[in-house]
Amino acid sequence: MKKNLFIAFEGIDGSGKSTQVKLLSYNLKNAGHKVYLTCEPTDSPIGKMIRDIFSHKMEADHKTIAALFVADRLDHLLNKTNGILKKLEEGYTVITDRYYLSSLAYQGTHVPIEWVIQANSLSTNLLRPDMNIYIDISPETGMERLTNDREIIELYETAENLHNVRQKYKEAIEMLKLKENIVVLDGNRAPHIIAAEIWDEVSNMTVAAK
Ligand code: ADP
Ligand code: TYD
Repeated sequence: MKKNLFIAFEGIDGSGKSTQVKLLSYNLKNAGHKVYLTCEPTDSPIGKMIRDIFSHKMEADHKTIAALFVADRLDHLLNKTNGILKKLEEGYTVITDRYYLSSLAYQGTHVPIEWVIQANSLSTNLLRPDMNIYIDISPETGMERLTNDREIIELYETAENLHNVRQKYKEAIEMLKLKENIVVLDGNRAPHIIAAEIWDEVSNMTVAAK
């Protein structure tokens, strides 16, 4: 059993990832773990470029966006100051809000999924999450939660696109189920119930920190 894990949260926009990241972090810290929270797109210059495209400040082709995510993810892993590999080495349990399954689902709706898998292989050869937690909700629920929450609706945040992305997530999970540890959860329940299920899964994999 491992002491510090690398955990990725996945799901369509509004699925409750940020909410669950916070609750899991709280539970891990209570159990004595050091926790490092991070997300993709990152805050690096590459991540900023992606966010500018999403908020319509810049335009780019879907293939270019897919490639930017590949670069952002490599920097996320390898960055010497706060990269995931460094944080794991320092003993942190690292929780990321999105990792490469997001690229399979979101970019896979616009470019062939095999290309996205191949393009991400540099990252996956370096590190796969100990656990991917996929929170499943309907695109309608996602859109409803987002429109209550957001001032700007970003590039991929339409009901039709979220429907396609959810389908791609299902396809990707099916393709990768032998390679990846993926926990699928029903996100339509109350946050504390989902959090309790996540805690069951995660605490089964960690040894208690001293
Ligand atoms: P994501 O990070 O996946 O986009 P958030 O955690 O930001 O999702 O949640 C989006 C919105 O939905 C927020 O307003 C949040 O309070 C709400 N929310 C999160 N989880 C649930 C849930 N299980 N049931 C109902 N609303 C939720
Ligand atoms: P995020 O800030 O996590 O949005 P949310 O909190 O609504 O889930 O992600 C921003 C957007 O980036 C989101 O629409 C999904 C998209 N995305 C991709 O298209 N490909 C990727 O590889 C990743 C990591 C994110």
